[in-house]
Amino acid sequence: MKGKKFVWMLLSILIISSFALAACGGEATPTETTTTGGGETLAVGIVLPTKDEPRWIQDETRFKEALQNEGYSVEILFSQGDSAKEKQNVETLISKGIKVLIICPHDSTAAAASAEAARAAGVKVISYDRLITDTAAVDYYVTFDSVSVGKAQGQYLVDHATGTGNPLYLYAGAASDNNAFLFFEGAWSVLQPKIVDGTFVIKNSSEAVALQDKPTLTREEMGRIIGQITTNWDFNVAKNLAESNLTAATAADKGDVFILAPNDGTARAIADTFAADTDVTSYVITGQDAEIASVQYIIDGKQSMTVLKDVRVLVADAIKAAVTFLEGGTPEATTTYNNGVIDVPAKPSEVISVDQTNLIAAIIDSGYYTADQFTGLENLK
Ligand code: BGC
Repeated sequence: MKGKKFVWMLLSILIISSFALAACGGEATPTETTTTGGGETLAVGIVLPTKDEPRWIQDETRFKEALQNEGYSVEILFSQGDSAKEKQNVETLISKGIKVLIICPHDSTAAAASAEAARAAGVKVISYDRLITDTAAVDYYVTFDSVSVGKAQGQYLVDHATGTGNPLYLYAGAASDNNAFLFFEGAWSVLQPKIVDGTFVIKNSSEAVALQDKPTLTREEMGRIIGQITTNWDFNVAKNLAESNLTAATAADKGDVFILAPNDGTARAIADTFAADTDVTSYVITGQDAEIASVQYIIDGKQSMTVLKDVRVLVADAIKAAVTFLEGGTPEATTTYNNGVIDVPAKPSEVISVDQTNLIAAIIDSGYYTADQFTGLENLK
């Protein structure tokens, strides 16, 4: 690996856990720090959105694994779902002399100020998983193909529906996350023709019903739908919304239902809520992230599918891009994503649709997780 030429990369990694004061209120929030032991100038700073969702703990773990193998000098900070804390984290890293910032924004637009502060300090900005929007200060975007994630979710529902009049419940991510729009765009592209032909009937969004004849939606139109069906990426919001949707629905709106859930955390919350409704006979529900708890839900038949986004690939791409910038190069891009101001060079990675039929091959045989992390795997054979 070329990056090993750097002196800062030769030092072994010392993991230090520390606590930092939150931006407001003086409340202590955990800040995980990975740094070199030798007082070298910090080369790369990583900022992740929250420790409260297994997805981002997964990224932290995979970053640490990759960094341990490569001997990088890096610090990882968490923003705890707070844009002010995120900005403070970025400023801390800038003051420590980072040359490259890898940042997954809590809020795509609010993070523009952090990206601009980094750019002003001569730091290269890599947007990680979520795109930072409304600024020219983004140098590169490392991501999965998020439209494909939504398509995989929509296709799963289509593939498992027969006949017509199937009740469809739609849920989305946080409107502050650009990805939520990409996921919904992908899902809509697959579901909309099947709504028009009568296979599905939308039960929980009047805005979606009003727009159901449109094969493609503007961002503003998607925004109107997402406004009604957002989970805000929060399990409790997802649960409460599903409960109020089911309370408003009649028994005829239930039966064998189909549920577009945007990710695994919200899928488990929504699935549990639907499972508890005696008028729901069966449900097919999507997910995303292959979180351990959801892989177990799939084995147990409580969640239908997930979309595996192999975080090892994303982490490797991010590190490769960072090293390329440190060496004065330009990371490989296969496409661009418009962030409202510029077209950001990007390299999206593939995703895999996983259900009971391919779980062992995709999750266990691939080495993503080990069999001992689950129970009941033998029932899938
Ligand atoms: C990520 C998903 C994640 C969601 C909630 C999205 O931006 O792409 O993997 O589940 O945020 O954190």
